[in-house]
Amino acid sequence: MGDQKTAALGTWANRWTFILAAAGSAIGLGNIWKFPFITGEYGGGAFVLVYLVCIALVGIPIMMAETVLGRHGRHSPIVTMRELARESDAGRGWSLVGWMGVLAGFLILSFYSVIAGWALAFTWDMGSGDLMGLTGEQVGAHFDALVANPMQLTFWHTIFMVLTALVIARGIHKGLENSVRVIMPLLFVLLIVLLGYSIVETDQFGRGFSFLFSFDFSKLTWEAVLAAMGHAFFTLSLGMGAIMAYGAYMPKSASIGSTVITVAVLDTVVALVAGLAIFPIVFANGMEPGAGPGLLFVSLPTAFGHMPGGQVFGVLFFVLVSLAALSSSISLIEPAVAWATERFSMSRLVATSLFSALVWLIGMGTVFSFNLWSGEEYQLFGMTVFELLDFVTANIMLPLGGLLIAIFAGWVMKRSVVYKELNLSLGRFNLWRALCRVIAPVCVFVIFVANLYKAIA
Ligand code: PFF
Ligand code: NA
Repeated sequence: MGDQKTAALGTWANRWTFILAAAGSAIGLGNIWKFPFITGEYGGGAFVLVYLVCIALVGIPIMMAETVLGRHGRHSPIVTMRELARESDAGRGWSLVGWMGVLAGFLILSFYSVIAGWALAFTWDMGSGDLMGLTGEQVGAHFDALVANPMQLTFWHTIFMVLTALVIARGIHKGLENSVRVIMPLLFVLLIVLLGYSIVETDQFGRGFSFLFSFDFSKLTWEAVLAAMGHAFFTLSLGMGAIMAYGAYMPKSASIGSTVITVAVLDTVVALVAGLAIFPIVFANGMEPGAGPGLLFVSLPTAFGHMPGGQVFGVLFFVLVSLAALSSSISLIEPAVAWATERFSMSRLVATSLFSALVWLIGMGTVFSFNLWSGEEYQLFGMTVFELLDFVTANIMLPLGGLLIAIFAGWVMKRSVVYKELNLSLGRFNLWRALCRVIAPVCVFVIFVANLYKAIA
């Protein structure tokens, strides 16, 4: 039945391959860099709890919905949305979901690449030995000097974009599957080593733990709730077609429910372990949890600098972070490349080169956000270009895309079609459907409206 189309696109080797690819997309800078620093900015505990609730009630159901759309449609996200809308007797307007996703992917990758460039720079600096034995303050000064230098940032941003383009141009099958199989477990082992260091060497583990898990709701604002929900979308790669694009290669026999839950749990565990490893180091070195985007890049090198074998661990760690970022970045541009090759029979190489150049250019806005354009005269709503891109994509575009995907899977597609794709027991299917039709959309909607109201009032 769907096999003709399946054959045209090719399928993953087996269920594990989808898990690896989706986990490769999900696990990245969002877990290791962004989660700790926004948790620090929003004061810890209560923010983490809202994020976890959002993963369970909003993220997982919508991730299932997005995978269903991808596997049923079997095309690039833009075409999939159009085809599925036609099949469901709905309007052509639904392909806008695909278009918005492509745009969100470009915008996210533009700053993602700059931050991944920091990881490359720190790989180099750790390797040189310059960061060994420094105090937190000294590493902080090193970080500040890096981001103050547009030439250096541009250099590493360029390297990372070229790496992304190389992997994408070769096609996501080759390379991706095997690399994720090796990178992800290694990265996890290294995080566990860091966690061990935090427990044994910092005597601040209790403080780090309670920072993450003691819930003080008096500090919780609607803005924090929006950021927590936005991060749930960002960290699971939801709402922009990345999971839809990967779902298109998923074999019909694989169970979407258990696969998606596996990926979501892996992603969450990596984020929490990263947080548990980082915050004790932050406290032990007298740093501020709310220090912002530099949190990871200052705290960990400080720890590596005082660890036996720290130089080797440090290099390995930043290499792995860079590779984890790479397996996410390729999924950010894949929906666009898949669309261009499908729609215009463009070669992957041409499509990749075109889009990468565009994203690279947008990325210069983020490069300058930390130096030339850091002043107020270059800000909009009190945000730099980087902060604005981060805010608009994670807190608006991804939740909006996810909301529309949930509504599409829950209300527009025929129940029987979705039921067959998900292949769950009736009870579980009904639970998913209630989450997808009502709970998840209401959560997103309420959080949007509350923030809009706050902004206006
Ligand atoms: N999920 C990735 C991370 O946590 O680093 C970021 C990301 C990748 C977001 C792909 C969105 C996406 F489509
Ligand atoms: Na993630």
